[in-house]
Amino acid sequence: MKPVRFNNTVLRDGHQSLAATRMTTAQMLPAAPILDGMGFAGLETWGGATIDSCLRFLGENPFDRLRALKKAAPHTPQIMLLRGQNIVQYTSFPDDVVEAFVRADAAAGQDIFRIFDALNDTRNLATAIKTVKACGKHARGEICYTTSPVHTVEAFVKMGVELREMGCDSIGIKDMSGVIAPRIAYAMVTQLRQRVGLPIILHTHDTAGLGASSYLAAIDAGVDIVETSIAPFANGTAQPDTLRMLALLEGHDRCPTFDLKKLAQLREYFTGVYKELGKFTSPDNERVDSDTLIYQVPGGMLSNFRNQLKEQNMGDKFEQVMAEIFYVREALGWIPLVTPTSQIVGTQAMMNVKFGRWKTIAPAAADIALNKYGRPPGIVSAELIKLIFERTGQKPIEGRPADALSPRMPKLREELAAKNLPGDDEACVLHAMFPQEFAKLHQPATPAAAPSAPAVTATPAVAADAGAPPRPLQAAVNRTTQHYALTIDGQRSVVEVSEVL
Ligand code: CO
Repeated sequence: MKPVRFNNTVLRDGHQSLAATRMTTAQMLPAAPILDGMGFAGLETWGGATIDSCLRFLGENPFDRLRALKKAAPHTPQIMLLRGQNIVQYTSFPDDVVEAFVRADAAAGQDIFRIFDALNDTRNLATAIKTVKACGKHARGEICYTTSPVHTVEAFVKMGVELREMGCDSIGIKDMSGVIAPRIAYAMVTQLRQRVGLPIILHTHDTAGLGASSYLAAIDAGVDIVETSIAPFANGTAQPDTLRMLALLEGHDRCPTFDLKKLAQLREYFTGVYKELGKFTSPDNERVDSDTLIYQVPGGMLSNFRNQLKEQNMGDKFEQVMAEIFYVREALGWIPLVTPTSQIVGTQAMMNVKFGRWKTIAPAAADIALNKYGRPPGIVSAELIKLIFERTGQKPIEGRPADALSPRMPKLREELAAKNLPGDDEACVLHAMFPQEFAKLHQPATPAAAPSAPAVTATPAVAADAGAPPRPLQAAVNRTTQHYALTIDGQRSVVEVSEVL
């Protein structure tokens, strides 16, 4: 079998997972030519929380970053993480905005698009995949890995077949919580290779200490590419370190060849950058966190969970609330616990324990039950749907969530023109997702924002009936954490979310 190939994630997921996405373009550029000459199959450099972070914290134009990185590393395909119909935000955008985003990104030099949906609802991937293919670029369809009675290897493989039929060039297994066990990784890769026949990539995190072992099992099963980073932006909540993977593969017939001197040089360079970003790093993210396996909850969510319960005078209810998370998740059709669903499920579980089951239903939880985020993987509790109908008169929607949205590009151009801002696709899509931050970028008097600690203030959830609800769960403090007000059918809900890694 051919040697396995590595993608490198240090310029995106590495610092997003361990340093709150705060690496600047200036900190990336010296390393880019070295990374470019190493033989990586791809460099993940863009998307995820990087666009938000560029605008909100670093005062950078994210498209300028991509162009600069393309120039500095022209020989290796560059990869971005795209959240399907949500682009790089947390709510659905109309098709014309998704298409404009992909077109602008392709024109700026993006090569590979990793496209996913938090619910694995493939309807939310269709527009992005189609547009990537129309731009002549590589569409990598992602299967979000999670554990539940409905998330079987067979179901994931079926999704892989569907992604191939939708036009994907390769299939990624996206294990954002780092919970895929080696034998499961082996089984999934084996079956996806047999039944899908496209290149298979495994992406995991070392949060629970399983990452490198699962990569090894996937390599034994014939995975084409695994994703590694460069220490110290590696291991812990990020991807396993490249050097560590090489050591693990010593003597393996699929061990790739890398210049160890250059790897040492990169490690030294990024050690300096890690120190510069010390304000945003935390030992909590660097250690192995096996609690995430016990509770089946993403590591970032658990780290503040105990504190949140204490603030609610529910410190003694930890085990009860954790058990309730299982119940709520089942009632909501076994949705994967990733952003923003992890926060929504956690908050609802706290409310159920505090006020009694479903006495208060968070609007965001109701929206999941009503299919407003997409189709949950399992069956939503009929009792819950009935309660929501009794209280709000709302019934589950049948179609794709974005079908309810009208085209927005003409309006976006008008809004920008009214502000004397450029009205090209790049400007429109950034304005659509981050209106205030994008406008700030064009204020000549405003100096580039100095990196600052992310806002972690809690926002009260809106209760479906009377009673003071507990504060929503906070995400890990050193991840990009934001509040989003979602208004759907006139009902406003506030969720606090951090980026899906
Ligand atoms: Co990731």
